[in-house]
Amino acid sequence: MFRPIRGILPVNITAYLRAKESGICDDRDRWIYRPVPVIIKNCRYMKATVLFVFAIFLCSVLSWGQPVQNIQIIPQPVNISLKPGRFLIDRHTQLVVTAEDSKQLAGIAFSLSRFSQSVGIHLSQKSDASFPRQIRIQVVTDDPLHTGEEGYTLHISPSLVLLKARRAAGIFHGLQSLLQLLPPGHTGESMSFPCAEIIDYPRFAWRGLMLDVSRHFFTKNEVKKFIDEMARYKFNVFHWHLSDDNGWRVEIRSLPQLTKTGAWRVSRTGTWGNFQPGQPGEPADYGGYYTQDDVREILQYAQQRCITVVPEIDVPAHSLSLIASFPNLSCTQLKYQVNPGTAFYTKEDNALCIGNDSVFLVLDKVFTEIAALFPGTYVHIGCDEPYKEFWKRCPKCQKRMLTEHLKNVDELQNYFVKRIESTLRAHGKKIIGWDEILEGGLTPDATVMSWRGMNGGQEAARQKHQVIMTPSAFTYLDLYQGDPNVEPNTYGLCTLGNAYHFDPVPEGTNPSYILGGEGALWSESIPNFRHAEYMMWPRALALSEVFWSPKNAHNWNGFIGRVETEFKYLDAEKINYAKSMYNTLVKTSLDKNANLLVRLGCDVPGVDIFYTFDDTNPDTFSPQYNGKDLSFPKGATQLKVMTYRKGIPVGRQFRVLLDELRMRAKSKPDF
Ligand code: ACM
Ligand code: ZN
Repeated sequence: MFRPIRGILPVNITAYLRAKESGICDDRDRWIYRPVPVIIKNCRYMKATVLFVFAIFLCSVLSWGQPVQNIQIIPQPVNISLKPGRFLIDRHTQLVVTAEDSKQLAGIAFSLSRFSQSVGIHLSQKSDASFPRQIRIQVVTDDPLHTGEEGYTLHISPSLVLLKARRAAGIFHGLQSLLQLLPPGHTGESMSFPCAEIIDYPRFAWRGLMLDVSRHFFTKNEVKKFIDEMARYKFNVFHWHLSDDNGWRVEIRSLPQLTKTGAWRVSRTGTWGNFQPGQPGEPADYGGYYTQDDVREILQYAQQRCITVVPEIDVPAHSLSLIASFPNLSCTQLKYQVNPGTAFYTKEDNALCIGNDSVFLVLDKVFTEIAALFPGTYVHIGCDEPYKEFWKRCPKCQKRMLTEHLKNVDELQNYFVKRIESTLRAHGKKIIGWDEILEGGLTPDATVMSWRGMNGGQEAARQKHQVIMTPSAFTYLDLYQGDPNVEPNTYGLCTLGNAYHFDPVPEGTNPSYILGGEGALWSESIPNFRHAEYMMWPRALALSEVFWSPKNAHNWNGFIGRVETEFKYLDAEKINYAKSMYNTLVKTSLDKNANLLVRLGCDVPGVDIFYTFDDTNPDTFSPQYNGKDLSFPKGATQLKVMTYRKGIPVGRQFRVLLDELRMRAKSKPDF
């Protein structure tokens, strides 16, 4: 590697930064590049200078048109063309905003003030030629590069940063990209942007993240933090799962009972699904809800960050918190508690009685207030996992089927959805439902959220309905993200790689019906916000790229590099995230004689896996996995694995028992 001669080169900090980018020096060399002009007298020094300049030139030329390593933005922009040089931010830099239509300025005021705080420069509305460097934000009316409603262009040269967009959302997203070019913490002499031309716009209009606040309650401030974290990665829909069996979380002023009873359950700690039901006299003191004022505050918070909030009121099933508040609304009319996380599904009727008119009177109040509170077009009405057996046995439901000429309980569900849809249509809203909404036929306005794989979404698109893809194996953020032996208890598996390699448009499906996709953070196994972050990041980084970046910009190795850079930002912001991507993935199979075979892997490139069968802790002196199937030696009962990169430990060591692996091999998927 070319090494400059210590202390004498006539280069300034810009050259240092450029050299650092090009990989010809690192942080330890920084002191070499003092910004002092030195007269070159000695021809040895001259030779070194010429070599150095040539090296910079070569690196710059080679980087044009290549995947850009030193512009690290997630999600990857549509087009980046790296240029030589950097734009420095200091007291000689002016931040100035202009708009061809001044009405647009109000829409971007918030994001500009945040940006000006982040870079430490006051915002002005008048360009001042005495500043040698300008960051110019322009809201424009034309769109020659077709960047659309959310896209932007960025020109960065040594004297000018020019961010142009037609809409507030484009400006906001462009500013997120700029902020990602700054070092974590945004301080010090390295406050500078690499020079480049960037053109960027999203692949999908719907780029959502769902937070389930029913199974566990998250405070107003935690919800705001969730929204803040989404915004950096250009997500634009916050899907708020506000009701379920385990808690009703939004104030409905005409139905105070809903939050008096439905928002509270007995407190339990441990493994969800096995919790003890509330005992006689035990207080229901775990929970909470958002007042309508809280909701309005969160809506404004989201709107400032160009995020639409989609509320979900999950009916007709998953409704035990509603039924606990109004026991006459289920088929059995039994009195239930708000469920604290017990196994119950087929024993308690958590579905509303569709034969009971009171159900529609209550839901009319609920959805009328929800429609008035939330300004967006869509209201999610759930409709997932309806257990329909109680409807079959219920005299009221049976009567409804008779009078409405409904052949079966699927059609009864469809009758229910139609009534809710028409209530919401009267308030100017469209409904979204999980893919069970297809059962009994799709109602006219329904958008389908496909979670049980992609088939439901494909069928809905075939029927010319809009679709949001959330197939659980790729987008459910409550699943294990690595081997369960080193992860907090949950279910299923969705690695960072699974999330990244997801394509929301399955082959043969008309892409014009696919609005986009969502990551879903169900919270049965997420008792606090730190753990919500752990489950979200970095998988939601992968999803942000799936939903925003063009398919041809996807590149796993490049993504992992950017994720590792982003970890530094998450560290600086004290945001929790999982490092599970560095852990060994253990895959099992059986040979033709039913002998167990084990294959090891790791999602991160360049990672070596070491293993032992003898209960010792593996290190770089242990056998290194070579890609071939492993068999347990006679007498061995456990496998221990550990990952290293360039000899440095990166993952977590764990142990898997032979019996467990045999079970995994028999029951696909592995866990
Ligand atoms: C769901 O996961 N039940 C939508
Ligand atoms: Zn009924």
